[in-house]
Parts: sequence; C-alpha cells; structure tokens
Amino acid sequence: MGTPPLDDSEGSQAILQLASCPFSQLKIWLHQAIVSGMKYPTAMTLATLAVDGTLDQRIVLLKHLDTAGLVFFASDNSKKVRDFSSHPFVSVHFPWHTLDRQVRISGKVYKLDPALTTQYFITKPDFEKTTAPASEMEEETFNSSRHFLLKQFHMMQSKFYGGGDRRAGQWSGYRIVPDRFEYWQGGGAQLRERFVYQTVESGAWEILQLSD
Ligand SMILES: Cc1cc2nc3c(=O)[nH]c(=O)nc-3n(C[C@H](O)[C@H](O)[C@H](O)COP(=O)(O)O)c2cc1C
Repeated sequence: MGTPPLDDSEGSQAILQLASCPFSQLKIWLHQAIVSGMKYPTAMTLATLAVDGTLDQRIVLLKHLDTAGLVFFASDNSKKVRDFSSHPFVSVHFPWHTLDRQVRISGKVYKLDPALTTQYFITKPDFEKTTAPASEMEEETFNSSRHFLLKQFHMMQSKFYGGGDRRAGQWSGYRIVPDRFEYWQGGGAQLRERFVYQTVESGAWEILQLSD
C-alpha cells in the first residue's frame, strides 16, 4: 500500500538511477563501501529463527556474490546451521553507517555442495577485484580495504584448512537465495530514499519505492 511500482512512480531521480538487477545494485554499493575504507565492508548481520521459535543474529562475512545469491561460510556444528535445518529462511543486514546506508535482504538458505565450497574457499573474495582508485586519498582507503579483504581470505582459508590439519566438512559454504532486497539511503528528509526489489511471479524483479 502506498508503494507504487517503479513504472507508475512520478519519476524520482534516485529510483531511475537504480540498476534493474538487485544483485548489480548490491555490487555497486559493496564496491562503494569497500573503497570508502570502512572497517568490515562485507560484514553482514545474519538473523535466524530457531526450532523453538526464538530469534538470533550474528555477523558473518560475505564471501561471494553473483545472481545465484550471497555466499558465506559457517561451521557445520554451529547454532546458525542448526537454525537453518529447522527453518531455512534468513535475513541479512549490511549496516553501512559511515555511508548513511543500509541494505536488508531476506531469502532461503542452501548448503553449497562440497566442491563449490572448496572452490569459493580457495579463491580470493570477488570484492578484491574492485577497480583501481582515481586519487591518492582514495588509494589509501582502497589499500586498507584490500588489506581487509586479503585478511578475510586468509582467515577463511586457515579456518577451513585448519592450518595443515585439514578439517573439510566442518566448515561449509551457504548460499542465500534472496526474494527481497531493501536499499535505504539516508541524507536528511529531502534526500532519504528507500526502495525494495521483490520477485514477481514471472521470476523478474519489481522495484518499489517506499515513502516512509
Ligand atoms: C567481523 C566478524 C566476522 C565474522 N565472520 C564470520 C563468518 O564469516 N562466519 C561465521 O560462521 N562466523 C563469523 N563470525 C562469528 C559469528 O558472528 C558468530 O559469533 C559465530 O559464527 C557463532 O554463531 P552461532 O553460534 O550463532 O552459529 C564473525 C564475527 C565477526 C565479529
């Protein structure tokens, strides 16, 4: 209610600049978060529902992103994984405070097959392959973000391979297949933008602007 589909809207500039694909939009904002130099640009809060109906949340790092979904890694023995097995629907939140932005995503979670888990573990994060910065100042933040992403990669690798004592099977990749993305950009009452991508029956994405 009160949220016209994109084609019917009065034509907000910000709406018209959105990527038509929510995954592309996420890549754009992730890239901007990384080059801004903020700490943990790929950290997302993952919310789950336990079998007894209680809610929980914790931070995980986004390791891979494509149009199939968002991949992160978790220990197979962890509480979050037990929560997935009774209720495979989750919500994740990127809290990019320094950019006055947040992204909220919900969807279904699937365990990756072991070959794909290994492949994602041994490749560096996609986000490292970000384009080179233009200015000296940008370069400084770019290098610190790159350093963070490399640390993330080595941390994941050492967890998975157990520092020589390989314990494959204890950590796995999990993919969230989203059905809803909500992008929020702050900047004062005049500039604030809030828009949602949600799947429609055809499997396409519909974009709605929220007014509150
Ligand atoms: C910056 C940061 C990054 C983290 N990244 C991950 C991660 O990628 N995967 C993971 O399972 N836990 C990660 N953790 C730890 C989790 O937040 C959590 O404490 C742990 O996974 C146990 O959660 P659970 O008992 O709800 O399963 C991270 C914590 C922090 C603070």
